[in-house]
Amino acid sequence: MKLDLGFVRQQFPAFAEPSLAGRAFFENAGGSYACGAVVSRLTEYYRRLKVQPHYDFPASSEAGQWMDASRERLAEYLGVTPSEVHFGPSTSQNTYVLARAFRTLLKPGDEIIVTNQDHEGNSGSWRRLVEHGVTVHEWRVDPDTGRLAESDLERLLTERTRLLVFPHASNVVAHINPVASITARARAAGVITVVDGVAWAPHGLPDVGQLGADIYLFSLYKTYGPHQGLMVVRAGMVERLGNENHYFNVGEPLKRLVPAEPDHAQVAAARGIAEYFDALDAHHGAAGGATGQGETSARAARVRALLRSAEVPLLTMLLEYLGTRRDIRLLGPSVPEQRAATVAFVTETIEPRAMVQALARRGFMTGDGNFYAVRVLEAMNVNPERGAVRLSLLHYNSADEVKGVIEALEEILGAQAPPRRARQGDAR
Ligand SMILES: Cc1ncc(COP(=O)(O)O)c(C=O)c1O
Repeated sequence: MKLDLGFVRQQFPAFAEPSLAGRAFFENAGGSYACGAVVSRLTEYYRRLKVQPHYDFPASSEAGQWMDASRERLAEYLGVTPSEVHFGPSTSQNTYVLARAFRTLLKPGDEIIVTNQDHEGNSGSWRRLVEHGVTVHEWRVDPDTGRLAESDLERLLTERTRLLVFPHASNVVAHINPVASITARARAAGVITVVDGVAWAPHGLPDVGQLGADIYLFSLYKTYGPHQGLMVVRAGMVERLGNENHYFNVGEPLKRLVPAEPDHAQVAAARGIAEYFDALDAHHGAAGGATGQGETSARAARVRALLRSAEVPLLTMLLEYLGTRRDIRLLGPSVPEQRAATVAFVTETIEPRAMVQALARRGFMTGDGNFYAVRVLEAMNVNPERGAVRLSLLHYNSADEVKGVIEALEEILGAQAPPRRARQGDAR
């Protein structure tokens, strides 16, 4: 089934916004456009339901219902139960709280494994457990490819390992890590897994049940929604962790990992993401009607496949072009099937900042910098202060936009590429 891009763009107010017209958006990994269903729920909530939720007067009970519905509807798309879905202000804040909560479970002398591929949001908080007497091991990327090898993980697992923290995909390298295989290996060793799905979830909300992670986190504001983080904490896990909420809320699993109340309006509006996916599925020929578990997971799988099938051809075009430039070092795989549609690269001839400014003058919104992924840039011999250029696509980007950005890159870089620099030569 081919994605109807016209229909898709009608679902996003940004595409009808005059001030954004003529500008192609390639900074989706920083934060996606919000879909119309989310925007209208947010404004309606503020207009009609902006009261303390879950009391027995009409505005309050409806506000509460909206918040509950978000949890239920997103749980369907993630293949988990609503009681496993927790909302918090952002993924970095969620991992911060989680790492604190893990201090109850981890004893001095226990070992945990983190990676140097992660965004700092899924790294620093865990590494700080060293202050609690925990030994932290680092699963390191290959300096050329930026990839994590499962064979290296094998060497880090010991009988003292309690926790493994890794990304579904890095926001720079973008290689899709084989999450199910890694979590299966960890589980066999009795190790808990925490997976950062921030850089993958916008490309198709995963079936978290199938991935096998004990905890899976992502950011709704990069997934067509409001500025909230979502974490799936599989059944039975919350009770093993410390209570980070008020002492008298210890018996409330959905509160324990969120020290303050999440933003009610944003949680209520998050249902709009599921409604957007429903509309996408219905428009692309799904019969609809049935609402059982089988039907909801089939719908989620169809939407996932639809998004990916729209992104891969765009990603292929961009990667093929970058492959022709001898002056560009692509970070991560050049094979589209192996990566998310987030493409970071460095060039020796032009500073990343100058490149994105030149692209902006031509109507292309892109990003540069270290993207808080300092450790992986350093590991790949890229100077994090200089950073990289990043073009990140979603299913709502068009082939014309990709052709346009390729032409712009060609113009900026100049048609004549200089000889390839040495592989390890660094972009400093
Ligand atoms: C891969 C990855 N993990 C974690 C984060 C942190 O997410 P948040 O901004 O919700 O704290 C980001 C943000 O860019 C990210 O790209």
